[in-house]
Amino acid sequence: MSTSTSNNGTTNYAVILAAGSGERMGFSTPKQFLKLAGRTVIEHTLAVFQAHPQIHEIFIVVSAKDRLYLEELLLKNPVPKVTKLLNGGATRKDSSWAGICAVPSDRLPNANLLMHDAVRPFVTRRIISETIDALGRHAAVDVAVPAVDTIVSVDGEDFIRDIPDRSALRRGQTPQGFRAAVLKKAHELSHGDPHCEVTDDCKLILNYNLGDIYVVRGEEKNIKITYPEDLFLADKIFQVNSSTLEDGPPLRRVQDKVVAVFGATKGIGEALMFLGREYGGRMHGFAASTGCDVSDAEAVERALAGVLQAEGRIDAVVNTAGVLRSGRLADRDPADIEREIAVNYLGSINVVRAALPHLEATRGGICLFTSSSFTRGRSLYSVYSSTKAAIVNLVQGIAEETAPQGVRINAINPERTATPMRVENFGPEPPESLLTAREVAEATIKTLFADFSGTVVDVRRKSATL
Ligand code: CTP
Ligand code: MG
Repeated sequence: MSTSTSNNGTTNYAVILAAGSGERMGFSTPKQFLKLAGRTVIEHTLAVFQAHPQIHEIFIVVSAKDRLYLEELLLKNPVPKVTKLLNGGATRKDSSWAGICAVPSDRLPNANLLMHDAVRPFVTRRIISETIDALGRHAAVDVAVPAVDTIVSVDGEDFIRDIPDRSALRRGQTPQGFRAAVLKKAHELSHGDPHCEVTDDCKLILNYNLGDIYVVRGEEKNIKITYPEDLFLADKIFQVNSSTLEDGPPLRRVQDKVVAVFGATKGIGEALMFLGREYGGRMHGFAASTGCDVSDAEAVERALAGVLQAEGRIDAVVNTAGVLRSGRLADRDPADIEREIAVNYLGSINVVRAALPHLEATRGGICLFTSSSFTRGRSLYSVYSSTKAAIVNLVQGIAEETAPQGVRINAINPERTATPMRVENFGPEPPESLLTAREVAEATIKTLFADFSGTVVDVRRKSATL
């Protein structure tokens, strides 16, 4: 198989270290093969590197006893960039060495290695991009987050000997990135050094003074699954994991695509219709005010049947229809509550059910809308925020169900947006504090044609994401 390289001729190899036995976890199955959100931990990790455009090849280091299991996993769920399965060693350093040795010698002078723990499935695209970017300027790169707790240094009898200044301390994560030749040299020096007890790859570079090690900002959520309680935490992180569209697909992907939008006459839906048309999309809009109420399953089916008849196919479906009513639950009119649930929750279910048969034919995409209140209910908005929590859960479940057919479904989570619904409920607000409907429409179109599924896409104001 031929290896591709980046423009500057460098090959970026990800080495996924998966040869540990997970003693601290205490289960008979090593933690990298435990299931989280429907897939094994290592499959989640591999998916991030597979999806990263700057990663050319992936090596997996695994223990001999787990090799067959891993091979089966990869048969069921192929990861095309995986080119080698390597036998791990007794220590992480030995496993790391196996990865280094797998780089073909003619590539060595022009290769980067990203050494990553299989048990850190929440590594982000940004972390990988910045690590690779920094390797253009430095021989070694670590990823770390600021230490939030005070770190104490103790002696063998548990007495404090030092309390280092916290502002200079960071907690290391992975990936750790290296120019391959430099990391190889560090390991070779350690092999010939009887006094070397260092096991961390970055520390080897430091030990033998082989160059500066730059630190890229990690993420709190990039946890290493180590103890059983980390599995609970990981599960929660999956539930709220958001995929911000850092370098998502361009808007022009909508060109010539057939897109149906529910809730198309106001706010974000209206902006979607405009923007989609501007970029050459074949946009079809529906709204309660024009006779298609999403709470009416048959009306939704009829609307999509009409689009199919006119266009011969449907590539994407969006539901922006929603109502927001406030008030203490006890004080509210039951019919009003039912209406809110019927539009916000059942409406999305109706749209998804009607859309799926069409989208299976085109391997299309669906976007539903949630709200930042989905993670935590708010007083006076308990019905609204719980319907929005339901949308996230719905998206996660449907994403798993539809993955085999190639249909993608995601939830858009806009922060406060200048829409008629917002003005009605909250009155006028300073425009600079609000997202525009067009910004949300942009993120929605990008998400419709992105390759991920089952995620919550946060849309924030540009200034707020800095
Ligand atoms: N690792 C490895 N080879 C080893 C030891 C560890 O490839 N000989 C990998 C693990 O599979 C894991 C990563 O290095 O993905 C981080 O190590 P750690 O969290 O310590 O995992 P384990 O060694 O499996 O766990 P424990 O230390 O609790 O036994
Ligand atoms: Mg270990």
